[in-house]
Amino acid sequence: MIFESHAHILAKQFDQDRNEVIQRALENGIRAVLNVSDDMETSKKAVIYANENSQIFSSVGIHPHNGNDFKEEDLDILKKLALEQKTLAIGEIGLDYYYDFCEKNKQKDVFTKQLELAKQMDMPVIIHDRDAHKDTIDILSSFGKNINGVMHCYSGSAESSKILLNLGLYISFTGVITFKNASKSIEALKAIPLDRILLETDCPYMSPEPFRGTRNEPRNLVYIARKMAEVKQISYEKLLENLWDNSFNLFKKAAKYKQALEI
Ligand code: NI
Repeated sequence: MIFESHAHILAKQFDQDRNEVIQRALENGIRAVLNVSDDMETSKKAVIYANENSQIFSSVGIHPHNGNDFKEEDLDILKKLALEQKTLAIGEIGLDYYYDFCEKNKQKDVFTKQLELAKQMDMPVIIHDRDAHKDTIDILSSFGKNINGVMHCYSGSAESSKILLNLGLYISFTGVITFKNASKSIEALKAIPLDRILLETDCPYMSPEPFRGTRNEPRNLVYIARKMAEVKQISYEKLLENLWDNSFNLFKKAAKYKQALEI
């Protein structure tokens, strides 16, 4: 059983065949999919979509790319959406200094406000950090142990993963670990304890080998998990068992659905 911890199922890339994509995921052992939002519109849609599909859960939040759209009153709307039963996390939120879509101070402000919301609601966060490691760590550290969450699509070193682990965060890996030039990610994966790792596609992006460069989808988690088992030197079954439990340990609101998902 596999828990897809980060997929953008409502992305336009899936408009033609969304149901088939979900069906293929189920046929390949993906029993739960956390559909991650990146703005107010996808957040609202994600909640509705989760309510309509038993294996789908939602996260709500504003991605750093969309920081300029943020309005103070969005926090109240996000709060209401976060209270919904199948909303498991606030995200994805964070900092992205690679693209220049939103000014840095504005990004920090929107990130901090959503972390405050997560803290207030005692919900985990899904963190996006691209070329903004120092500021991301500084902001997260200012919350101490009051924030639970996952660093999604981890691209850092084994060394810097220690800081995240000390903050109590989980670390999530994508198909990047299957790439030929992935030695840094592989070293990080080796160093991170099994009980703090999550699995994600970040689809429709980041297809693992042998599909690199094509549209990604949740069933490709199988390829990422195989590589992960090899790196961690444990059986595929044992790996999946651990990651399945990790997902429910972090996304606590999913716990009441666990038994039903396992049947
Ligand atoms: Ni994402």
